[in-house]
Amino acid sequence: MCGIIGFIGKIKANEIVLDGLKHLEYRGYDSCGVSMITLSDIIVKKDVGKIDEVHARLNFLEPASNIIISHTRWATHGGITTYNAHPHLDCKKEITVVHNGIIENYKEIKKYLIEKGHKFKSETDTEVVPHLIEEEINKGKKFEEACASIIKKIRGSSALVIGKKGVEKIIGIKIGSPLVVGVSEFGNFIASDIPAFLKYTKNVIFVKDYEMVIASKDKVRVYEVLKNGRIKKVKKKVYTIDWNVEKAEKGSFQHFMIKEILEQVDAIKLASMQDREKLESFAENIKNYKNLFFLGAGSSYHASLVGKYLFSKIAKTTVVPILASEFIHYKDLINDESLIIAISQSGETYDVLEAVKFAKKVGAKILSIVNVNGSSLTWESDDYLLMNVGPEIGVAATKTYTAEIVILSLISYALSKRLEEGKKRLEYLQNIIYNLTAENRRKEIEGIARFLKDKKSIFVIGRGILYPTAMEGALKIKEISYIHAEAFAGGELKHGTLSLIEKGVPAIVLVDEETKDSILSNAHEIKTREGVIIGVSPFYNEIFDYFIKVPECGYENAVSHVIPLQLLSYYIAVSKGLDPDKPRNLAKSITVK
Ligand code: G6P
Repeated sequence: MCGIIGFIGKIKANEIVLDGLKHLEYRGYDSCGVSMITLSDIIVKKDVGKIDEVHARLNFLEPASNIIISHTRWATHGGITTYNAHPHLDCKKEITVVHNGIIENYKEIKKYLIEKGHKFKSETDTEVVPHLIEEEINKGKKFEEACASIIKKIRGSSALVIGKKGVEKIIGIKIGSPLVVGVSEFGNFIASDIPAFLKYTKNVIFVKDYEMVIASKDKVRVYEVLKNGRIKKVKKKVYTIDWNVEKAEKGSFQHFMIKEILEQVDAIKLASMQDREKLESFAENIKNYKNLFFLGAGSSYHASLVGKYLFSKIAKTTVVPILASEFIHYKDLINDESLIIAISQSGETYDVLEAVKFAKKVGAKILSIVNVNGSSLTWESDDYLLMNVGPEIGVAATKTYTAEIVILSLISYALSKRLEEGKKRLEYLQNIIYNLTAENRRKEIEGIARFLKDKKSIFVIGRGILYPTAMEGALKIKEISYIHAEAFAGGELKHGTLSLIEKGVPAIVLVDEETKDSILSNAHEIKTREGVIIGVSPFYNEIFDYFIKVPECGYENAVSHVIPLQLLSYYIAVSKGLDPDKPRNLAKSITVK
């Protein structure tokens, strides 16, 4: 996805905006750009590359300005080129726009605008926006009115920040993609996400879909754009968020990912700090519905698979996890007797939101587990539990994956009226994770990572709760080290995958008390074909070529066994010279189809 940030204030803010943009780089990093807006000019600087590289070439600090909009891109429409980088301009170079999302009907709009004489420079969907606004202004509308009018014209999901030469205002529009406002004494921010301005203000206004924000240097007004195109002022509360600034900073760590892996000791504690009443009301709701579904994408989907196991074992409750992007194919199962638990770090994943919107329409109840308060999913849900673990910046989910499992585990204990027992177990888990992430353990895993780094393919196998754990481990390896990694339920190996095993092919085998006999027998099948076995296990077995010792934690094995896999993927990426925080082609929050 893309990251957008705009600032208008009493001070020259190039450095602040640049810093804010860097905090959004996890959302996209193939190109970036900045518009400095003055009364007489708009200076656009943009190019292909990560923010530091482009800034080193173009110097985003000049000219100093108090009105700036900027963008970091994850390409969707149009290749990775300087022209396609944002901000975009209209023909007269008076209107400048940054955008996150996709304008589905941009081709028709572009055709119409070309017929009207507009000249385009890029292949992007975004570029239609400044030209559309220009067209509306040509027809006699004021800047604000022209911006409001485009809301009805563009389809798809979008978050936009718009500036105009000679106008001391910036305008934000939210239709389906994330947008928040930061309010401070020295000026106001409109951005994709809170970490963009967290260092400068904790005062936040959450924006809903079809709302338009008009920010000037000392005021923020929010309007709802009505179906008839009129705007209606909305009274908004300014929230003070309790996210810790340090959580959005790398500090002395080389990467966010390793910082966030180590933060998991805290994450377990923070995610466990749920309001008892709320947890119990979640559990009550679950009991009142006939059909229960989990919904998630990526790591959040894997957490839901762990949740399915926990619900079945702890609460004897049946739940069907569905991949958010596949949800619509199961729409016939959803009705007013359905309860959906949507799981999402960002609360902005397009597929999750689309599925939730559909489920709501047919009368399903929506509960969610979210990290980002004020995100779209929180608005769409009947109720939600927050992960409380602060911003996660590394593209690969680590501490939020663990937080999701912690909350799912608490819900299942609440369902079986054994919440205290669940909490105790999670307290114990904290010590375990502390030891598992200690320096000597990390060194050990770094050594194994050096062995794996040149492999073409890695298999990860597990059974029971360790099967979704294997899936999460394989995903981590794929996304940041670019090695093909595949997870299998141990018993499935013989149904096809075994043909891929030959001399030297590494297999990570996840072992626990419950599954030890069967999974070790699967490991033997690999060893017989000269595969290399990396055992992640509470005990040693002679079959292991490498051994990562983890304690036996029962239901919490889903967390204790995933930590070495996260570390392994991190060290493989680092030893290959890759940046684990910014894996190629990926972004943290996927707000498109
Ligand atoms: C992206 C991220 C993944 C994440 C997935 C779901 O693909 O790169 O790390 O698991 O989205 O994100 P969510 O915010 O809904 O949990």
